[in-house]
Amino acid sequence: MTEVPSVTTLKKPLFVQLHDTHSADPRAELSAGLLASMPAIPPKYFYDALGSRLFDAITELPEYYPTRTEAQILGSHGAEIATAVGTGRTLVDLGAGNCEKAGRLFATLQPRRYVAVDISVEFLRHALACLQREHMAMDMVGVGVDFSQSLQLPAEVGAAPRTLFYPGSSIGNFTPADAQAFLQRAREASPGGNLLIGVDLVKAKPVLDAAYDDALGVTAAFNLNTLAHVNRLLGSNFALRQWRHVAFFDEARSRIEMHLEAREAVTVRWPGGERRFAAGEHIHTENSCKYTVESFDALLRRAGYLHTRC
Ligand code: AVI
Repeated sequence: MTEVPSVTTLKKPLFVQLHDTHSADPRAELSAGLLASMPAIPPKYFYDALGSRLFDAITELPEYYPTRTEAQILGSHGAEIATAVGTGRTLVDLGAGNCEKAGRLFATLQPRRYVAVDISVEFLRHALACLQREHMAMDMVGVGVDFSQSLQLPAEVGAAPRTLFYPGSSIGNFTPADAQAFLQRAREASPGGNLLIGVDLVKAKPVLDAAYDDALGVTAAFNLNTLAHVNRLLGSNFALRQWRHVAFFDEARSRIEMHLEAREAVTVRWPGGERRFAAGEHIHTENSCKYTVESFDALLRRAGYLHTRC
């Protein structure tokens, strides 16, 4: 007699790719950014295949403390976190990537359902399939959506109370006003839900400067690589050797700024546009805002989160 496998052993992750009606056309967005009076490239363009690998390398640098510090906090305060956010909920992981951070929380948060959200389901397939093998009884859903634009999740996510998990201090890459709007949208999209968020706190300037301008030059490569990505998307002719990485902590604005600085006068051309950059001129590529416990708490309150815990 053959044994019929139980339903639990047959569980497979569901995948849903939402069509992106919100995001700008990359060529129009990049061209407008390069032609602006303060030229800029949005930080999402760091993350082509090489850029994502360079970011993973950044997280292992001695100077880049946020990733390992957050892992230590989540690891050593699991029980307190579970008491604060509750167990048995739907855990919605925003920017899930390899799903590792959330996976490490399963033992303490015991989610009933795990929803991994990233820009494309293709980034999630392998990681979710591996995680499902380790947690065979858990419902798992992978959702591909640009969640910075829309937090309306598909019906497959279900109506059970959600814990939104947004680690890595990615909230710092929004301006405070955009962070507030994003958090407000997150709250409104998850009635009865709560939020577990990782936020980097202000440190002494030399610590922050080094975290974004490491001795090995990995962050410099990460920043410069965005020009190679832009060349492919826009058809532009940036020569990477003509640009240098600049990163510094602006204490007045409580943010790291990353820029690319022209080493010499350069004219960059692309189909339908061109721009001349004088030597020393900058393209702004990223802000990484640093908060105090009080300033982030105030931002959460403005976004409608009235019961907060650090
Ligand atoms: C993804 N984000 C939270 C990183 C940060 O620290 O702002 C991106 C980064 N940029 C340079 N190093 C890391």
